[in-house]
Amino acid sequence: MKIKNEVLKMLEQNRDTAVSGQILAKKLDVSRQAIWKAIKSLQEDGYIIHALPNKGYWLDTSCDIISAEGIRLFLSEKNRNCPIIFYKVIDSTNTAAKKLALDGARHGTIVIAEEQAAGRGRMGKSFFSPPGTGIYISFILKPKVDIDNAQLITIYAAVTVCTVIERFTRLSPKIKWVNDIFLNGKKICGILTEAAGNFESGGIESIIVGIGINFSTRQEDFPPEIRHIAGSLPSPGISRNQFAAALIDKMLKHGDCRFQPNLTQLYKERSLMIGRVISYQKNTATVSGTVLDINEKGNLVVRTREGEIDILRSGEVQIRNISEHDFMT
Ligand code: BTN
Repeated sequence: MKIKNEVLKMLEQNRDTAVSGQILAKKLDVSRQAIWKAIKSLQEDGYIIHALPNKGYWLDTSCDIISAEGIRLFLSEKNRNCPIIFYKVIDSTNTAAKKLALDGARHGTIVIAEEQAAGRGRMGKSFFSPPGTGIYISFILKPKVDIDNAQLITIYAAVTVCTVIERFTRLSPKIKWVNDIFLNGKKICGILTEAAGNFESGGIESIIVGIGINFSTRQEDFPPEIRHIAGSLPSPGISRNQFAAALIDKMLKHGDCRFQPNLTQLYKERSLMIGRVISYQKNTATVSGTVLDINEKGNLVVRTREGEIDILRSGEVQIRNISEHDFMT
């Protein structure tokens, strides 16, 4: 690893604490002059690094720059060489990932952006994707097994986001079926899973899993029309690079669709849905019912008011009997 990257890693790992040039030099087995040069170069890249004689160097708490290099520093050995394509601005990382997949990008290719000009959500909605405070990341996955299992990938992604949040905070995020992650009553993450196929061969070749996380977005920075529903992670004390790396490591662990047998159990433990009264559209009618279960395929099992059992595979549902308290962590 380049000295500059090693220095960045140590500064990221010691946010808020000054690390002396002498310690850095000793740990990396280089001269203090080399450390100073690395710091200068990082500052030129936009990192705000403070320096005080007798104290050392530290990263400004506000300084959180996403980069492929920065993410790689925190990736496990196994994934350190996975392709990471970084954009400062892109319309949508999912759209870019689809194109790359059709051009032959390999399983485990990551597309990540600092900002999305046209971030996409489910049901044709848009996803608010400002620079500086979010993680907008898409995974190109090529499941090796039964494509039938591919719908479980969204379930897996939702559990993965939750477990990474749980790892870095003491919070317990909740999942609203299928794939919205909530904290304290506000949606902090959305997941958009899409297939990238080849019309000529007629098959689905890749699954694109797009994850958008409001990482450090201030409430007043959300547009007024989503301010009542959108929220953010409360300063997790780590960088977006560190969080993204943990997410990548976890996603790629089972991203080939060979899921752990207790996946739906892990999902259910975090779900807001069981026992709720919900309503949803079926053909042109609005149906109400109670959620009985989430089955092993990740489908919602509902008993309608008329007493029938409905299995929902996808779609939008409204929860009728939920209070602020149910969301609290
Ligand atoms: C939703 O809330 O309905 C899903 C939102 C998914 C947003 C992510 S951000 C990364 C990827 N690129 C997109 O355009 N969308 C997904």
